[in-house]
Amino acid sequence: MSRVLILGAQGQLGIELQKAFQGAGEVVALDRQWCDLARPETIRKAMAEVCPKIVLNAAAYTAVDRAESEPELAMRVNGEAPGILAEEARKIGALLVHYSTDYVFDGSRPSPWVEGDAVNPLNTYGRTKLAGEQKISEVGGRHLIFRTSWVYSPHGANFLRTMLRLGREREQLRVVNDQIGAPTTAAALARATRAVIDANVQEVSGIYHMTCAGETSWCGFAQEIFRRAAAPEGRHWPEVVGIPSTEYPTPAKRPKNSLMSNSKLNARFGVALPQWQDALAETLAGMNLG
Ligand SMILES: NC(=O)c1ccc[n+]([C@@H]2O[C@H](COP(=O)([O-])OP(=O)(O)OC[C@H]3O[C@@H](n4cnc5c(N)ncnc54)[C@H](OP(=O)(O)O)[C@@H]3O)[C@@H](O)[C@H]2O)c1
Repeated sequence: MSRVLILGAQGQLGIELQKAFQGAGEVVALDRQWCDLARPETIRKAMAEVCPKIVLNAAAYTAVDRAESEPELAMRVNGEAPGILAEEARKIGALLVHYSTDYVFDGSRPSPWVEGDAVNPLNTYGRTKLAGEQKISEVGGRHLIFRTSWVYSPHGANFLRTMLRLGREREQLRVVNDQIGAPTTAAALARATRAVIDANVQEVSGIYHMTCAGETSWCGFAQEIFRRAAAPEGRHWPEVVGIPSTEYPTPAKRPKNSLMSNSKLNARFGVALPQWQDALAETLAGMNLG
């Protein structure tokens, strides 16, 4: 493996990719200051200057609710920039690894979604991420698109950190229990990405689902967090009460069933991610909760 370019260096996944790709050749990690996905000329410049063999694009417009009021910016970053990256990657024969989302689906399937299922995003973020997937496949260079869900890590804005903060402030938390999915750590995603690259399988361009194993609701996720995390000294964690989505309205609508089958990933590359509870335990163990 030679030069690897990581975009979105300061995001949850970008940080973990830098760890997972240690020893994988020369790694160049750029944040928005050096490569702004809303400014195509900076993408072209970064690709020309770094000239990577592999591009890992962890940068994205991820503010799901805010996207409803900033659809043009979300589309530039999530929908158009991936196409430019794909074009630049194709020119230099690089592999583009990109991440997408469960929110390309409408949540209506009663069982886990597979890659070939019909897409039908319910919100702006989902529509912009879908546009990005489509642009990459239209360009037709070497690419891997990993759809993932409910990403969290010790850093950044995510459900785990929100729960731990609210858990210190409140006696009771009301959390949605009618949306199900697979909480996935950025670390597990990053390691699985490395394992896919190391598997060195040829002719595999396409979309793959990549999430931790198992399933839960947001409410179940919150309960597991408080079951496993050490409570602040002299205090106990709040009671978590399940509520329907109708009692927690958000600007962006979310799918009811976000579960995605990882069978294709497993069959093609022999890669499987850990059970979500184990990945949560690992994340909590690495955090200073004192
Ligand atoms: N988080 C989730 O629950 C989730 C679920 C499904 C799929 N995904 C996908 O997984 C991937 C990684 O997400 P994540 O959770 O690591 O997100 P994240 O923590 O929000 O990180 C995203 C990174 O992208 C950067 N960014 C935003 N706008 C940019 C721009 N115009 N140019 C360059 N960089 C920009 C952000 O930089 P700033 O700090 O400067 O804003 C941030 O460092 C994304 O493709 C996301 O769509 C995430």
